[in-house]
Formats: sequence, structure tokens, C-alpha cells
Amino acid sequence: MRTRGTDIQFPPRLRLSRVPTPIELLAQPPEPFEEAGVEIFIKRDDLTGGAMSGNKVRKLDFLLADALAQECDTVLTCGDVASNHCRTATLAAAQLGMRTHLILRGERPGVADGNLFLSLLAGASVEYLSPSDYARRDEVLAEAADRLASEGRRPYVIPEGGSNPLGCFGYLNCAREIAWQSDHLGYQFTHVVCASGSGGTQAGLMLGAQTYLPEVEVIGINVSSRGDVLHERIRQLLELWAREFQPEVESDQTPIALINDYVGDGYGCTTAEEFRLIRTLARRTGLILDPIYTGRAFRGLVEEVRRGRFKPGSHLLFVHTGGLAGLFPHREVLLAHDPREELP
Ligand SMILES: Cc1ncc(COP(=O)(O)O)c(C=O)c1O
Repeated sequence: MRTRGTDIQFPPRLRLSRVPTPIELLAQPPEPFEEAGVEIFIKRDDLTGGAMSGNKVRKLDFLLADALAQECDTVLTCGDVASNHCRTATLAAAQLGMRTHLILRGERPGVADGNLFLSLLAGASVEYLSPSDYARRDEVLAEAADRLASEGRRPYVIPEGGSNPLGCFGYLNCAREIAWQSDHLGYQFTHVVCASGSGGTQAGLMLGAQTYLPEVEVIGINVSSRGDVLHERIRQLLELWAREFQPEVESDQTPIALINDYVGDGYGCTTAEEFRLIRTLARRTGLILDPIYTGRAFRGLVEEVRRGRFKPGSHLLFVHTGGLAGLFPHREVLLAHDPREELP
């Protein structure tokens, strides 16, 4: 799909996200970057807000503008028990005077921690589904929407991760922001890299890059799904976006750069190496990655640099998509003594 800059009509948006977010050179990066002659910058989308921070806020800027335009009063969405998206949606809805109902994958934990704690604190009502029931989440969302409507509420349904064509505008807009920052602050990136879960962040960046950053390759690092499944999801998002927002533009087949080598045992099964990298980066650089998305994606990026994927002189921009609250349930393992840990 080819977007054309001047032709992109941005839909109405709210200003929930604190943007533009800074771009910073990562001082003291892990050794492979220096050895490969590759510079690594961080797009600090972990700073899109306080408790309501991370990549999802950018999508909600557009999605909740639509919800308000439709005079909805309840946000209805879904995700894992540890979902950043559900936490962000709940806090955003509260700020707008709306209620939230969440369909969550997993069991009700004995103690609500991390993202779930924040969602409950901000007043979300919650239904817990087993992983097999969660597989039919879109139907469950539709049933919940009918139920809420029969109770006199006006629900606004947001799919998992806020990843639908309208949500893609969040990262399309972020690509425009990166292009502006490149022009005005003198950066030149060769690659933009992000964690890819439900695919909307990568799809949005790809759509935006086609117009605003045509020389830049957007790379997603799959953190959870089967590679072919996520690839297909992203392809569908690109296609649906084009059909809905630029039907007159000829499609173009930009390949989807998705790295699937770091999924390991799947969503949320953080490896010892990922935990170690999170600790090392926190100690060396003050940058806090999360165990599910950014920790996995950054560890994958380090490995790709080590494997020689990027030519010397490459300038990489890693989009730090947030997820801080997801760290807290892992406090014990993160603070456990690790003899291989390199102290600053
Ligand atoms: C912190 C964080 N990073 C990255 C992602 C992946 O974004 P997407 O679902 O748009 O692929 C998510 C999704 O939940 C997230 O919470």
C-alpha cells in the first residue's frame, strides 16, 4: 500500500498522549552495537504520559476521539491479565468520564499487581477468560457489547491492542513525528525497530514511513505470536487501512520486515537472558524495559546486531513502547543475585 503524504487525511484526535516524545542516543549501549559500528537511539514513547504511558496512548488518541464522536459512555476492550493496553484504555476512559469493561485472558490473580492493579484502581470491571475461551475474544466482545447496550450503556469496542485501521493512525502519526525530528534535529535513521504484538504499532509505522521516512526500513520484533499469524495480521491491517482511508491509492507491496526468532516459549515467558538485559540496561543507562515487549524486542535487536544484520554506520531507532507497570510482578526474579551480572 502506498500512502501519499499530502493526501493523508488524519481523522480527529484527542491529545491524551504527551507528544512529541524525545529521541535520545543510548549512551553505553551493549557491546555488540559498538563492535558492529552501529548507533542506537531510543524513541522515548515510554514517556507519552505518567501512569497512562506507552504506545497505546497514541492509538487511543484516535480511537477515543471516535468513541466521543459516537457519544459512547463505556470502553469495552480485551487483553492479557498483564495487558498494558487495558490499563491505558481504562485510565484514558476515566480521564474522559467514561467507564471501562475488560475481557481478560487468564485467571483472577490472588493479588492484583502491575497493570491489572492500575486498571482496577481506575475502576474497570473485569471478566476473566481461560486461554481457550479467549481465542473467541471478538465474539465475547460483541456479546458483552450487546449486554451493556441492553443495560442502557453505549459501549465502544476496541479490539485487542487497539490494533484496527483507525488505531494505526497512532503510529502513522509517530512516523510523521520522527520525520519532523530528523529534519529539525539532524538525525538520519536507517531503521526503526519496535516490538510487535498485535501488529498495530508496526503497521502504523510502516504506513507512515512510506510517506514520511521513505529511506527507512521499519522492523518489528515478534514478541508473542506464530510468525505467519502475526505477518498475516499486519498484512490485513495494512490492507484494511488502505481500503478505509485511501481507497483511491494504488496498492504497493512493501515487504513486512518481521523477525520471529525471539518468541521463545511465547507471550510473557520471559527468559533469564531477557531479565538479565533488563537489569543491565537499568544499571548502565537508567532505561527501564519491560519483560513482555520491550525487553524481548531489545534483546532480539542486540542479537541481530551481533549477527551482522546491520551495516557499519547504520543508525537504528528503537521505539520504546513502554510497559513499566509490567515489571512489578517480576520484582523477585529481577532482584535475584545473578553471578554473571555485570555491575556498572
Ligand atoms: C509495551 C508494549 N510494547 C509493544 C506492544 C506491541 O504493540 P502492538 O500490539 O501494536 O504490536 C505492546 C502491546 O500490547 C505493549 O504493551
